[in-house]
Amino acid sequence: MTSSNDIRATFLDYFRRNGHEVVDSSPLVPRNDPTLMFANSGMVQFKNVFTGQEKRPYSRATTAQKCVRAGGKHNDLDNVGYTARHHTFFEMLGNFSFGDYFKDQAIAHAWELLTRDFALPKDRLLVTVYSEDEEAPVFWKKVAGLPDSRIIRIPTSDNFWRMGDTGPCGPCSEIFFDHGDAIPGGPPGSADQDGDRFIEIWNLVFMQYEEGPPGTRVPLPRPSIDTGMGLERFAAILQGRHDNYDTDTLRALILASAEATGQDPDGRWKVSHRVVADHLRAGTFLIADGVLPSNEGRGYVLRRILRRAMRHAHMMGAREPLLHRLVPALTRQMGAAYPEILRAEALVTETLRLEETRFRSLLERGLGLLAEEAGKLGDRGTLPGEVAFRLYDTYGFPLDLTQDALRGEGKAVDVAGFEAAMAEQKKRARAAWAGSGEAATETLWFDLKEKVGATEFLGYSTETAEGEIRALVVDGKVVDRAAPGTEVAVVLNQTPFYAESGGQVGDTGLISAGEACRIVVRDTQKKLGDLVVHLGTVAHGEARPGLPVQAEVDHGRRTTIRAHHSATHLLHEALRRRLGTHVAQKGSLNAPDRLRFDVSHPAPMTDGDLAWVEAEVNARIRENAEVVTRLMTPDAAVAIGAMALFGEKYGDEVRVVSMGHDENAVAKHGVYSLELCGGTHVRRTGDIGLFRIVSEGAVSAGVRRVEAVTGEAALKVIEERDRQLNDAAAALKVRPVELPDRVAALVEERRKLEREVAELRRKLATGGAAAEVETIAGLRVALRDVGEVPARDLKGLAEAILKGGTADVAALVSTEGGKASIVVGLAEGAKGKADAVALVRAAAAAVGGKGGGGRPEMAQAGGPDAAKSAEALAAMRAALAG
Ligand code: ALA
Repeated sequence: MTSSNDIRATFLDYFRRNGHEVVDSSPLVPRNDPTLMFANSGMVQFKNVFTGQEKRPYSRATTAQKCVRAGGKHNDLDNVGYTARHHTFFEMLGNFSFGDYFKDQAIAHAWELLTRDFALPKDRLLVTVYSEDEEAPVFWKKVAGLPDSRIIRIPTSDNFWRMGDTGPCGPCSEIFFDHGDAIPGGPPGSADQDGDRFIEIWNLVFMQYEEGPPGTRVPLPRPSIDTGMGLERFAAILQGRHDNYDTDTLRALILASAEATGQDPDGRWKVSHRVVADHLRAGTFLIADGVLPSNEGRGYVLRRILRRAMRHAHMMGAREPLLHRLVPALTRQMGAAYPEILRAEALVTETLRLEETRFRSLLERGLGLLAEEAGKLGDRGTLPGEVAFRLYDTYGFPLDLTQDALRGEGKAVDVAGFEAAMAEQKKRARAAWAGSGEAATETLWFDLKEKVGATEFLGYSTETAEGEIRALVVDGKVVDRAAPGTEVAVVLNQTPFYAESGGQVGDTGLISAGEACRIVVRDTQKKLGDLVVHLGTVAHGEARPGLPVQAEVDHGRRTTIRAHHSATHLLHEALRRRLGTHVAQKGSLNAPDRLRFDVSHPAPMTDGDLAWVEAEVNARIRENAEVVTRLMTPDAAVAIGAMALFGEKYGDEVRVVSMGHDENAVAKHGVYSLELCGGTHVRRTGDIGLFRIVSEGAVSAGVRRVEAVTGEAALKVIEERDRQLNDAAAALKVRPVELPDRVAALVEERRKLEREVAELRRKLATGGAAAEVETIAGLRVALRDVGEVPARDLKGLAEAILKGGTADVAALVSTEGGKASIVVGLAEGAKGKADAVALVRAAAAAVGGKGGGGRPEMAQAGGPDAAKSAEALAAMRAALAG
């Protein structure tokens, strides 16, 4: 049997050999299209290449693309489980030519691959073509030798392919496989074409136009090729089955479901097993691509899919949540081809478990209500809209779950009544909000959110995405256009921009619509929980609601913000380990250039603490462990040891971010850091690069602040230190390693020199010959200018002179530092014969000083004019002479 994995590989390999670039599947959430909910075919990621807006280094490509059709134009959800070929998730194999080859070559490739590499019998194949396309039948005859009877012309939109309401489109030609007349069913275009005999396996689209607003269609710059082969249905043919659910991958999931529930895979619960198998795939791949269950947008489509599967699991008698237990069966089948589901396994498992646990608590009661209400209806009756709404609002039953539950009994729901009940509830919520006294300025945002809905945040998995401008606000008013130079607040339907929260600053970047408009975003803020507001300036062109735009986060800035945020988590844990578990987060800032982290701790951290913490964080960075995000209820998160912020309000579900390993952290399941966090993080701790603490200080009583930098900023700090060190070493003419010894030696030498200088000065001042003593009015006076001797030493010097017994009066002037200082001391015998205070005052006056003080036998004064020291000495001489 040819496995699905082999088929995928053979297909890609064939086109690789034929000059095609093998391109990875794009994520399920299209980044390049604001109008599409999910990637619904292989060409979505190339949409802008077809239209010429985007250039790639290749003109031929081939992919195996993940697709979801459960919302928007292509929606198969309702039928899944009941038919052989409907899926919410499937894989599309395709080859693409961007203005390179066209119809003839596309047909030739398809024919060769099918009949040679896959060895399908030629006489089992037939094709359809669009009835207005005259070329395709000619090529089919020429290349494949098909007779007219097996080239069926179809005049309907079945043979004109469109991506969505807008976008590239063109006539197509579909290849069918004929299972033979033992199977009921008619050829395409016939009344019984939906039978199982003729199965479409490959659609070749001859992309020629781009569809704009209704009624407008322009030719593409160059005719192109887009093809799509559903892997599941093709596998069914190669594996000799009539039902996609009997092929290897889906069958393995059905068997896993059968084993987990103990229910026969092909018996009474056949439909339920199929629903579980299909929805498990859709759920897993969507979660791995960043979609989480919610009540809006894509998250709600995911929730609808999951809850539909969960009802079926419940019906099969599963007493415990089922879906998450089947994830390993899926990763075994598809993990090699799509490693993203392996990487996200923890997040997927937790998310599924959480969603199912929460829903189960409501499911039974909801089903009870439904059975009771349905019982009141006659055969094939219609369930009142408000009952369906009650099931939705109180029991979390998406409308399609209720419809699915009634389907078996041939009953339906009054959908209009359901919608009316929903509108009524919105009205009530608004009235309640208006009465809650929120600030008037917030009214604007409340109105806007009600009108345009919450913004879908795509920034966990991408930094660029297309979106659509939903609203513009200028000076607190909603406007319908904004001209260049206008400061504007922009709301998009979806955005990769992170709005400031949890200490992480808002993103900056660019919102643009080619030449038509360019908005420079300098901050992003959140309103009312989930309305993202981009604050910026229209730099060029005109902004207006409805405009499709490209939103691009400043990549470099976001990268360093992310590194700082992840480093903060490691720092938090390291601080707790070093200082104790009383350390709790009191505030944080994660900016592009630094991080700031405030914690409760009563005393300054020592140098030893900081060095330990820094080394610890760096060791965790080098560990290069994966950073894993999971989704849980706040209680479950705290129960597994996640650090939550006291007093912080968390929603029903929280993201839990874990980093690093620690076998000893048993309570935390061997994880080093585990925190509740909505921020954006690095993929692996090694991405942080380097961590360096730059300061530690007090913020308020009992709260310390650590500031640190990571990556390049940390490297810069180190380089700067290095440079300073080198400069110092160069100045001292030593190598940097010798610097500490050299500096210590210098300090010691300086101390010694200071002692020597003091000694010399003392000798100089006291040891002068008797000749330097003059006799004035019968007193022996040592009258001296001692030059640079420090002023503080003058008194000691005077005392030393007097003690030497060679003088009765010591009158000294120092000119240290350009200022005059004067000290006069009298020996015992001179007391009463002179007045030290009067003498210093006389001297001070000569050097521009005022006053002076002390005792009659020891006084001091000073003045600014050191140059006049001789005059000061003269003034004292005169004063003594009387
Ligand atoms: N885009 C085409 C399809 O989805 C090939 O059928």
